[in-house]
Amino acid sequence: MNIAADSQINEAFVALSKAYAGNLDDPYPEYRKLREQCPVYRGDLVAEFGVPSLVAGREGKRDVFCLLGHEVVKKALMDSETFSSEIYREAFAGVMGDPVILYLNGDEHRFHRNLLTQILSPAALKDMTDRHFIPTIRGMVEELASRGRAELMADFILDFPIRVIYKLFGLPNDDPEAMEQFSTRALVMVLGGMIDPSKPEEAQERFANASKASEELFNQILETVKKRRAEGDIQGHDLISQLLRFEKASKTFSDEEISQVLRPTLAAAGETTSRGFANVLALLLERPEMLEQVRNDRSLVPIAINEAMRYEGSVSVVPRITIRDTELAGVKIPAGSGVNILVGAANRDPAAHEEPEQFKLVKRKNQPLSFGFGAHMCMGMPLAKTEMDIALNAVLDLLPNLRLDPQGNYEGIKGIQFRSPTSLPVVWDAP
Ligand code: HEM
Repeated sequence: MNIAADSQINEAFVALSKAYAGNLDDPYPEYRKLREQCPVYRGDLVAEFGVPSLVAGREGKRDVFCLLGHEVVKKALMDSETFSSEIYREAFAGVMGDPVILYLNGDEHRFHRNLLTQILSPAALKDMTDRHFIPTIRGMVEELASRGRAELMADFILDFPIRVIYKLFGLPNDDPEAMEQFSTRALVMVLGGMIDPSKPEEAQERFANASKASEELFNQILETVKKRRAEGDIQGHDLISQLLRFEKASKTFSDEEISQVLRPTLAAAGETTSRGFANVLALLLERPEMLEQVRNDRSLVPIAINEAMRYEGSVSVVPRITIRDTELAGVKIPAGSGVNILVGAANRDPAAHEEPEQFKLVKRKNQPLSFGFGAHMCMGMPLAKTEMDIALNAVLDLLPNLRLDPQGNYEGIKGIQFRSPTSLPVVWDAP
């Protein structure tokens, strides 16, 4: 596998997808069978499916439990004092620096959540959407329109959330090479968190590459922060401007602190959104009559997005470690256990959704858990949904009669921790 830090974005994505693919394309029947027996599974299903498991620990020796039912999943995600996200620190500290919101708790976590709530405010997102995100995303699709054929993963989907983040941060995006480096580094950084105890050498190489990529990202952001501060260029709704302006109870941020707030946000925002959008589009392309329905009635766009995030969310497993003894559905879980919270399985629990195994263009009673729940619930959900909405409308407007390429090698949605197609070959009627 090519895991060189300077590999191109598509190569890095394919490598990451392969490493996470596991040995089962469709894990849902297995989830259903096990959930019917008990919503808590003793053992590490993720590792049993052939995927490097974060929760078992670097030595692979920790007791592991998997949560499959909607109720137990919600309970665990709401109880962050028992089911701690500290586990991420094992995978990412040393790669993504400190602090990283995802593994903070208590007051420090509250401070960072309030900060992100403020800088990702609806007003800021609306302004950035109108001025930057819509032209950026539609512009990318417009560039493709005359071709009539594309592999949309490589040609559009992997890139657009990174370009959005570029704009959101306020980085200069007039340098395509720097932007491509930025995208690739973001993926290589995420790749470093994967641990396969049976392959220590590969894990070490990945970790070294990820640390290097992460440091380069940090410096890339830092350079702009310094420049913008020096030039007093801090008026906009972009995050660098907002963080440079930030002042609260005598707290201001140094250039390095600003770079550190942004680096993990990038890791959270890129690949998750690419895979999420790929799933929306793939599910519709697999059902041409539904795609047509959405094309003709755009009020169905947000419904299709929400339903795709339930039926095939891009994040399917959320890791935790228990920091005290606990019990769920009558199963005792000792302190120090690794827990795989299978949000993807919970999203198909008939106790929460009618006909959960059907992909339907309807509003569901319960929200999907694909953006998490409770203290660490995704802070970028409104942004991710906005991006996917713009992208789906752009594709429907600008690529007439879009369909899967019969000569392409479309293999469907796969993966255990992350789910998505690795490629999306399509054709359309070019003008
Ligand atoms: C479809 C796209 C996305 C999906 C499926 C997704 C999913 C998730 C999930 C499941 C979590 C919770 C993890 C846990 O509890 O362990 C999370 C947290 C987070 N997400 Fe997203 N995310 C997406 C897009 C974004 C975007 C665009 C941003 C950009 C701002 C973002 C920023 C964050 C942050 C900052 C957190 C940490 C919140 C905390 O720890 O309090 N996400 N995301």
